[in-house]
Amino acid sequence: MDKFRLTTAAAQKYDNHSVPAMFGPLARATLEKVSLPKNAHILDVACGTGALTREIAAQMQGTGRLVGADLNDTMIDLATQRHPPDSHSAAYVASDVCTLPFDDATFDLAFCQQGLQFFPDKLAALTEVRRVLKPRGHLKLTCWSAISPFNKALADALERHVGKAASDKARAPFSFRDGDVIANLMRESNFTLQAHTIIVLERRFEDLFAQIMALPVEQDLREAGETVTHTVVADVAANLKQYAQGDTLVVPQEAHLFEAIA
Ligand SMILES: C[S@@+](CC[C@H](N)C(=O)[O-])C[C@H]1O[C@@H](n2cnc3c(N)ncnc32)[C@H](O)[C@@H]1O
Repeated sequence: MDKFRLTTAAAQKYDNHSVPAMFGPLARATLEKVSLPKNAHILDVACGTGALTREIAAQMQGTGRLVGADLNDTMIDLATQRHPPDSHSAAYVASDVCTLPFDDATFDLAFCQQGLQFFPDKLAALTEVRRVLKPRGHLKLTCWSAISPFNKALADALERHVGKAASDKARAPFSFRDGDVIANLMRESNFTLQAHTIIVLERRFEDLFAQIMALPVEQDLREAGETVTHTVVADVAANLKQYAQGDTLVVPQEAHLFEAIA
């Protein structure tokens, strides 16, 4: 997979829609399972617009240092702007995961939330994260473990009404989800696996159209036109009927949480 670049508008949509819908709740669910050591030096790799970094900052008790790193400087700019001034500070750095600008053995703890599936060279990425961790430092990594019913319904509707390229785009975040493959990759990069659990979230859709149009497939839908877009949204809604709770769709979405030691 090629390295992907995001525009400022795409980064804003991501932070306005996808973070409250999914990445913020996943960050909070992860931190319910992981306690932050006091006075630790913490890295959030592929931090995006800082969904998890902000939650970590809120839990740091005035000690330690926090860094977020991401390939896209549009995401880093937004993370910097949206970091709450009244919480623990964070330094945000634009960097490819494979060439992190830190000395060996800098960090006590590294997080990677929903980044691994996008790294073109996953082994090099994990090896680099291990390099910047102190010996016996910790890695906490999440990656979707199943395609969610929402994303499956969307990918199927796109395949029916728009085309395979758009459908593949909707499936891409779920393209690397086999737990055994991920565990082996971590071992290959010399991490010792401590725990593997599954986090189950509920994604709520009050406005299905807005959430679909906040995804990278927005461009394909705009090119396909208004009529096709409404057909796709109606198709997704029809396929998710079983998840309706009043006017809201409440759809499960599952992630792996891997905990490992360098
Ligand atoms: C689904 S987002 C997750 C972002 C963030 N962790 C969150 O939970 O909101 C995936 C992120 O991986 C980043 N990314 C993709 N390839 C990368 C690479 N080679 N090095 C660093 N970051 C990368 C993207 O820029 C994007 O912000």
